[in-house]
Amino acid sequence: MKEMEKMSNFIFAGCDTVELAKKYKTPLYVMSEDYIIDRCAEIKKDFLEKYPKTMAVYASKAFLTKEMARIIKREGLGMDVVSGGELYTAIEVDFPMDQIIFHGNNKTIEELEMAIENDVGRIVVDNIDEIQIVDNIAKKYNKKAHILFRISPGLDIQTHKYIQTGQVDSKFGIPLTEKTIEMAIKKALSMENLELLGFHFHIGSQLLENDNHIKAIRIMTRLMKDVKDKYGFITKELNTGGGYGIHYTEDEKRKSISYFTDAIMEEVEKNCQEYGLERPLIIIEPGRWIVGEAGITLYTIGAIKEIPGIRTYVSIDGGMPDNPRPSLYQAKYEAVVANKINEEATEVVTIAGKCCESADILIWDLKVPEVERGDILAVLSTGAYNYSMSSNYNRLPRPAVVMIRDGKDRLIVKRETYEDLLRNDI
Ligand code: LLP
Repeated sequence: MKEMEKMSNFIFAGCDTVELAKKYKTPLYVMSEDYIIDRCAEIKKDFLEKYPKTMAVYASKAFLTKEMARIIKREGLGMDVVSGGELYTAIEVDFPMDQIIFHGNNKTIEELEMAIENDVGRIVVDNIDEIQIVDNIAKKYNKKAHILFRISPGLDIQTHKYIQTGQVDSKFGIPLTEKTIEMAIKKALSMENLELLGFHFHIGSQLLENDNHIKAIRIMTRLMKDVKDKYGFITKELNTGGGYGIHYTEDEKRKSISYFTDAIMEEVEKNCQEYGLERPLIIIEPGRWIVGEAGITLYTIGAIKEIPGIRTYVSIDGGMPDNPRPSLYQAKYEAVVANKINEEATEVVTIAGKCCESADILIWDLKVPEVERGDILAVLSTGAYNYSMSSNYNRLPRPAVVMIRDGKDRLIVKRETYEDLLRNDI
């Protein structure tokens, strides 16, 4: 009987998810280290080793804990950080600082000081103002700051408008107008404590096709030619951002890294040849692609409310505080009832979170077997931008995070307690 029960449970990364739910309670984030290692290996083999003069950094905003930073460090990728907090996490695990790229459209003076004092490899300057600020701080510490300019390439792309970032009307990056570029380049080249290495762009997230990266490369290589012709500036580095999509639902399929990077490299090589430019170091910054499918979230089903002829709401013990993406972006997820994995899906239900908020619906119209209170729901592909965007809304403690390697589970972030919620209350 025990074997039978086991057989019908959902196995993730070699672990019985129902057992994990029992051991650690729910809601619970479960991450597969094997999956993360596989993605890093793919990047190394099909990008870093295939092409000389390349660099890959993990966009840590997707999911960051000390253990995640250790894994990325061990796997040999660099890391993109966008805040003092992300940088602090990297510092705390002795992450090689020259492999850090520091982003942000409004880095504070304190954050920039922290970055420069700790010798981060590159600071991506997001606006003209920041050039002088970074130079001043570098001067204060008697250092030379290596910078890239984030350029907003002026592309409107097909993804949810909240995760588009490369369009003209964007808070990110230096706009691609001749006057602005001229001002930025001249200013940076005149600063004693700055070394301008090149340019960065990031056009958006959850992109399933490579055409937008190619379009952006055309724009950026053209810019490289212009700044060489006009100001004699040679671009040493071109950072092409992240944005590679993953599998959330049936019609979204994750593509190989080479689907994106081969296209990027081919386009860069072609344009550099045409323009008589030496090919710069090419950087990629995938976040979601490395961790998105590595994670699932386990919940316990509680209240079930059937409105005859209309809808059945199945409520879980988490929701928008641990996964704000459905309410923010209308993001879609797949899920399974972990303890009934082999049972036929005969019902269509709506998975509701437990917050006092009508928008707290995790999944509309999910096909499930007959469900009852106490069943375990596993929501898939929650590894990116779930834990990192989680909140304590309604004073719900954040779930624990468990990492799995070779079928063995270990706790990497403890579940928050009520005491944790009050820690800073005065
Ligand atoms: N590089 C830069 C400069 C970025 O701004 C981002 C993401 C990335 C790399 C990594 O993008 P990825 O490879 O993960 O797509 N919270 C949203 C996603 C926001 C992405 C912001 N920037 C979501 O949950 O969909």
